[in-house]
Formats: sequence, C-alpha cells, structure tokens
Amino acid sequence: MSNPSLLILPGDGIGPEVMAEVRKIIGWYGDKRGLVFDVSEDLVGGCAYDKHGTPLHDDTMAKAQEVDAVLLGAVGGPKYDNLDFSVKPERGLLRLRKEMDLYANLRPAQCFDALSDFSSLKKDVVAGLDIMIVRELTSGVYFGEPRGIIKEGNERVGINTQRYTESEIARVARSAFELARKRNNKVCSMEKANVMESGILWRDVVTEVHQAEYSDVELSHMYADAGAMQLTRWPKQFDVIVTDNLFGDLLSDLAAMLTGSLGMLPSASLGAPMENGRPKALYEPVHGSAPDIAGQGKANPIACILSFAMALRYSFDKGDEADRLEKAVEKVLADGLRTADLLGAEGVSPVSTSEMGDAIVAALDATL
Ligand code: IPM
Ligand code: MG
Repeated sequence: MSNPSLLILPGDGIGPEVMAEVRKIIGWYGDKRGLVFDVSEDLVGGCAYDKHGTPLHDDTMAKAQEVDAVLLGAVGGPKYDNLDFSVKPERGLLRLRKEMDLYANLRPAQCFDALSDFSSLKKDVVAGLDIMIVRELTSGVYFGEPRGIIKEGNERVGINTQRYTESEIARVARSAFELARKRNNKVCSMEKANVMESGILWRDVVTEVHQAEYSDVELSHMYADAGAMQLTRWPKQFDVIVTDNLFGDLLSDLAAMLTGSLGMLPSASLGAPMENGRPKALYEPVHGSAPDIAGQGKANPIACILSFAMALRYSFDKGDEADRLEKAVEKVLADGLRTADLLGAEGVSPVSTSEMGDAIVAALDATL
C-alpha cells in the first residue's frame, strides 16, 4: 500500500515559519513511528498571486483534490489589501473550501492548564474549558447569490445573500451529533430564527435530524447573539456548538480568545468520504498570517502543529498518535516554554518558533 499523501500549503506571513516546525513533527513520525507521508508543497494566497496572478492555481486545486489531506498555514497580508476582490489571498482559501466541499469546520476551543491565566476572563470560568464549534463552511452568506455591489439610482447598494438548503443544514448537523457522541453528548445549535427565515429552517432541520437519528444526544437551541453572551458568561455549559458560516466565523474567534491563546488553536475542515474512506480534509490554524511578526522567528507554531494532530485523528485514524502529540505540546507548556505571544508578567524570556518546534520533538522522543 502506498503512503498517505499530504499537500502542504504554507501560504503567507508566518505560514512558512510555522509550517517548517510541522515538517519536523511529520519527519519525527516517519523516523520514529513508521508513519511515512508522501509530502508535496505548493503555493496559496498572496505568494501564489505573486507567482501566477491568482491566489490558487488550477494545478494546485487539482492536487488538493487528489491528496489524503491538505495542511495550510495562513493567507493574506497588507501587501495584498488593494488587490481586486477576485484575486485577494482569501479567495484561494475560500476556493479550496468550496471546491473540496469541506462543509464541516471543526474548531476546538480548549484551555490549556498552563495558560489559564492568559484569558481575559476569570480563571475559574475558563480552566478546563473544552468545547467544539462546528461551523458550516461552504454555504450561507459567504457564497449565496445574488451578491455584489450594484447601482440603484445614484447610490451604490452592497448585496449578499444568506441561503441554506435542507441538505446543507442536515449534513453539518450530522457531523455535530456524531462528534457529540464521542464527547459529552450535547449539541447547542445557534441561529437567528427570530429574524431570519434561513434561521427558522436551520432550527427545523436540526430538530428533524435529531429526532430521526440522534435522539440520544442532548440538543438545545440558542439565538446566536445570546449564544455569544453565554459563551462569555459561562462557556463550560457547552460541549458541541453547531452554527452557520458567518455566525461560526464570529463565534469561533470569540471562543478562541476565551482560551487566551489564539496562537494555539487548530481546525479541521471536513467533507464527504473519498473512495478510500477518508474524508476530504484541510487542516489549518485558526490564527491568521500575522504580517507584523512574520519572518522574525516569533510566531507560535503550536496551532499549526495541533492541526497536524487533528489530521492524524480525523484523516488517518491515528487517535493514539494525535493524543501523543497533544500531550507533548502540553508537556512543553507545563515545562514553562513560551513563544512571545504567551508571555505574561513573569518576565520569562521567549523561545523562538524553531526552539518551540524542537522542544515538542524532544517531548515526543520522551514518550517512546
Ligand atoms: C476564518 C477566516 C476566513 C473566514 C477568512 C480568512 C476568509 O476568518 O477562517 O475564520 O472568514 O472564513
Ligand atoms: Mg475568521
């Protein structure tokens, strides 16, 4: 049997630096655990625009469709702010999500013990927090038609359309219920059924799927604004949250910051199973390209490394190896290693991006 294949798209800003550390981890699994991946690398985002005039070349898109999993760093930067909308770096990422049909975006918000002081909330509100946001990723207002900026009389009108079909809602609801069964068996669905028809349909379909297939899971519903409030008030009431594309974008940033460590959080974007049974999949850190610190060795590689752990778990059925990597990360944090984003008042001097990567490799070695 051939090795599992990975396409690495480091992207822009700190993407290449953090991905270099993930490469060390991938190498470690090949050397020490006999888990050898066929790795190829390509461009996405601003760097792809610089070379090809498009944020995602068709050849790269085709490669992404063929591999077992895609690992992405980050896209974007001030250099590209004035580009035409159709070729902005973000369009490359959105094209990958849409054409691979990665409809379920898993965004865990987990508070690491060693970092519970970093949250802007009180320690007892966040300590031990472990929630999973499942964001619908390929539909809703991000992709709905009609869209555009049109002229009406002598003023311009900006238009976007929130649109969801029953099947789009049902499939992401199933992803959320399946995950909940492996966690604490609770799903909270968030929409705005009080003002949006798409929200009414969302609530109906989630309820139908629940009654027909998942009545063993506890289901609740919240308006997304109240959900934001509850997330800051007492986030530990939640296990899995399922919500649409735009609300999920907002709520996942909010949830990420609760943990005090945006630089730590991974994500998985999953689609339907391929012929080999693996889901179409793309893994990426929740953080962006952080152009202000790019190229300085200051970036925290942990979110990207934990995204690879999610790949081990969700694409390669290696939950035990994912646990090993997550424990290695926890160990390094417990030992007091901190990249610059995680420095508190203690006056510890920060380690560089590559020192953090090396320490995690050493912690992996110590597990053998
Ligand atoms: C995210 C980002 C993206 C989004 C951008 C970069 C297009 O904010 O992944 O959350 O809005 O989905
Ligand atoms: Mg976002």
